[in-house]
Amino acid sequence: MGAQQSNPTGPDLATGIPIDDLPDGHMLAGHIGDDAVLLARRGNEFFAIGATCSHYGGPLVEGLMVEDTVRCPWHHACFSLRTGEALHAPALSPVACWAVEHRDGKLFVTAKKEAPAPESRSRAAPTAGMPERIVIIGGGAAGFAAAEKLRHEQYQGSIVMLSNDEAPPVDRPNLSKDYLAGNAPEEWVPLRPESFYADNGIELRLNTNVTAIDARSREVALAGGSKLRYDRLLLATGAEPIRLSIPGAGQQQLLMLRSLADCRAIIERAKTARRVVVLGASFIGLEVAASLRAREIEVHVVAPEKRPMERILGPQVGDFVRALHEEHGVVFHLEDTASSIDGNQIALKSGGALEADLVVAGVGVHPRTELAEQAGLKLDRGVIADAYLETSAPGVFVAGDIARWPDPHSGESIRVEHWVVAERQGQTAALNLLGRREKFVAVPFFWSQHYDVPINYVGHAEKWDDLTIEGDVMARDCLLRYKRNGRVLAVASIYRDVESLKAEVAMERDTDSQSSMATPG
Ligand SMILES: Cc1cc2nc3c(=O)[nH]c(=O)nc-3n(C[C@H](O)[C@H](O)[C@H](O)COP(=O)(O)OP(=O)(O)OC[C@H]3O[C@@H](n4cnc5c(N)ncnc54)[C@H](O)[C@@H]3O)c2cc1C
Ligand code: FES
Repeated sequence: MGAQQSNPTGPDLATGIPIDDLPDGHMLAGHIGDDAVLLARRGNEFFAIGATCSHYGGPLVEGLMVEDTVRCPWHHACFSLRTGEALHAPALSPVACWAVEHRDGKLFVTAKKEAPAPESRSRAAPTAGMPERIVIIGGGAAGFAAAEKLRHEQYQGSIVMLSNDEAPPVDRPNLSKDYLAGNAPEEWVPLRPESFYADNGIELRLNTNVTAIDARSREVALAGGSKLRYDRLLLATGAEPIRLSIPGAGQQQLLMLRSLADCRAIIERAKTARRVVVLGASFIGLEVAASLRAREIEVHVVAPEKRPMERILGPQVGDFVRALHEEHGVVFHLEDTASSIDGNQIALKSGGALEADLVVAGVGVHPRTELAEQAGLKLDRGVIADAYLETSAPGVFVAGDIARWPDPHSGESIRVEHWVVAERQGQTAALNLLGRREKFVAVPFFWSQHYDVPINYVGHAEKWDDLTIEGDVMARDCLLRYKRNGRVLAVASIYRDVESLKAEVAMERDTDSQSSMATPG
């Protein structure tokens, strides 16, 4: 799924449309010149904003209007209808906004509203009570979103982002999808151009490994021996691929995928590879399989489970995913694992063997918690955070793949590995780094893309006792509800975007009403 080309359709909104064409609570797509514009009505209020999502170009008119906001059908970003501002990740940039006039029974979209001018912040002093320096460890989804949010909130102090990656923050989900398949240009990969960091006074230090945190003296130690003082700290070190511990696993044939450099290495090897073995039927493993099929490479997937993705999505989606990949020529070796790698020979536990020019392991990740452990932060299969994403050390916050937080929807303490959750946590953590005391309450969301089929998932259900299916999974038109004790914990969908968005809103409201019932008075 790539950025959509702007090809505006619908009425010319400058010449006006009859007001009756836009009933209350509805949206319609039209245009002003070459700009695609979304017109929306809430009671007697009318809004006009850009119709194309600033994330990957999703058509907002096919999304869901919720009060004075609209949610994108593709990956659930949310925009203000009043201002065009991106309210929820994964969109990080606003869409344009126009004025609407109502006269003679018609609606006219008129002048484009000015976007608020970015302020020059780099040299201004922090205001009283604000931390002077915020250090962010990690240049991934969470770290980036936090830095951006801090500046968006007009934080004037110093922001230092430390990343042991050589690349500035990248659109990691693209690395197993369009970019790996060869369908996305290089410009799509960085989250922002390099100039963004200097322009916004964000000191991005790449190739910088943090080796220790001293939460008492408020310092981080860097490889090479230097130290950096902080007033508040965000730990966003993400996760790293699990390394296989089979004989031969250290060989050059075996690659993993987390960083842009990893992705480039796979692409380089794929240029001459005829056959690839993917170890593991994880989301990343299967997305890699799909992308390499797009490069017309023979792909075999070896995985211990009976059905891919069954543990997370259930047997029906598991069977569908398998059939989908088989339709595209992937050969599965399920209920099997690799026992050793020797040159281009991969021995299987079942006794068979496969030959491959390249092996990619996608057998899951584990959170990078070493720094937190060394700093004495409370851990439990991740770094424990409270509802405000603060760790057991005051002033040290956590976000993204390493964070385990009290999820109000499932009522459990959970850790997830989702792009959108990492970004939204980074944004909430940013507010709390500034002392705002905002609880992290977003309903978890992830998407995965296999060929032209997107799978969206809202909520979190580690276990369920009932699974209901609306529609037909094999026909790629379905909504699955994962329930426990009669309560919907999660919803997966294929091409039922509005229903998926409605389920998200219902989960948010369900939790709101439960917490208000629990609040005395
Ligand atoms: C190929 C791929 C595809 C994916 N596709 C999807 C998808 O389709 N949908 C979805 O929901 N999720 C997807 N994910 C998961 C998603 O990318 C992660 O959930 C998200 O990146 C987590 O963000 P994060 O900020 O916690 O960690 P990361 O993005 O991993 O960032 C961690 C950062 O910390 C830095 N770091 C770590 N240790 C140190 C240290 N000691 N010193 C300095 N820096 C350090 C790293 O270099 C990195 O910059 C995908 C992941 C991968 C790898
Ligand atoms: S395209 Fe709109 S959220 Fe991704």
